[in-house]
Amino acid sequence: KDDLVVLGIETSCDDTAAAVVRGNGEILSQVVSSQADLLAKYGGVAPKMAEEAHSQVIDQVVQEALDKANLTARNLSAVAVTIGPGLSLCLRVGVRKARKLAGSFNLPIISIHHMEAHCLVARLIERELEFPFMALLISGGHNLLILAHDLGHYIQLGTTIDDAIGEAYDKTAKWLGLDMSRSGGPALEELAREGDAESIKFSTPMKQHRDCNFSYAGLKTQVRLAIGSHNINAEIPISSASSQDRRSRADIAASFQRVAVLHLEERCDRAIEWARKIEPSIKHLVVSGGVASNQYVRARLEHVVKKNNLQLVCPPPKLCTDNGVMVAWTGIEHFCMGRFDPPPPADEHEDYV
Ligand code: KG4
Ligand code: ZN
Repeated sequence: KDDLVVLGIETSCDDTAAAVVRGNGEILSQVVSSQADLLAKYGGVAPKMAEEAHSQVIDQVVQEALDKANLTARNLSAVAVTIGPGLSLCLRVGVRKARKLAGSFNLPIISIHHMEAHCLVARLIERELEFPFMALLISGGHNLLILAHDLGHYIQLGTTIDDAIGEAYDKTAKWLGLDMSRSGGPALEELAREGDAESIKFSTPMKQHRDCNFSYAGLKTQVRLAIGSHNINAEIPISSASSQDRRSRADIAASFQRVAVLHLEERCDRAIEWARKIEPSIKHLVVSGGVASNQYVRARLEHVVKKNNLQLVCPPPKLCTDNGVMVAWTGIEHFCMGRFDPPPPADEHEDYV
């Protein structure tokens, strides 16, 4: 396993990422190129623009990952690439690059599910983490509670019936006139520290549904109404807001965050109860995906796992948001189980992917 060296490529949304990881879990390199200028300009991800941005930097990002690892493609054991879920235009850029490289250097290809990669990177961080375990995966597009039985064998306990929590963070940040160049989540987390989380009483979603599903569309609507009633104008960036205006924006941010995360806490509590009926031996809750890089989210979930006698495994923020390491590592896990595709033909026509 130590001899394995896998390149991971990730282009499912707005980050172009590549990394080289060794079979023993050593991270040899990790490169992420973000589309900050596009995010700021469009206030979110525009698929066609994102595709162009990926195409412009993909060769450079992969080359940099190889250079930083002091390797050439010839030294690789395999190439792992995210094939979904995500924006199809963007995914194709990564898949095309992976197939081209694998074809030229006769390397096997490993197709990776983006959410499985968010989940399994926890096993790279925490070597004690064995199946079965639970995972809460929270990102811009997904909100999943799963029971991970074994590699490739997952039971979904809950998912969102409308939006994911990251989407709610991003929209709230946009409506509050925050700087969107790093995506809304981090900016909102920062502003929420200044606010009073009890000042606005948003109601917790889906209280009456005794299941493990999520809903964030209703909370978004509540936030929108609160923004209207506080006369907040998103056209005025927070940096130009009066101190009183800034204060109400911070109160909304903090109140939103409290309830958005309380919803996660309640669902996790129930999911742990459910999971234990299926698998009494679980010891860990993994929390991963972009929103898991939020310090408040981490602290609240730490509380939930303690109460339930579990251990929290939360990758460092850089490995929670989209990255190439999680793709390479998940590739290694699958490769070791013999799950990979043979090298594509070297002269493969690009239209194939
Ligand atoms: O996993 P990820 O990088 O990409 C997707 O697979 O969607 O997650 C991106 C999401 C965005 O909605 C972003 O606003 C959110 O994660 N996010 C955060 C934080 N950092 C990133 N949300 C809240 N607090 C943060 N610190
Ligand atoms: Zn993601």
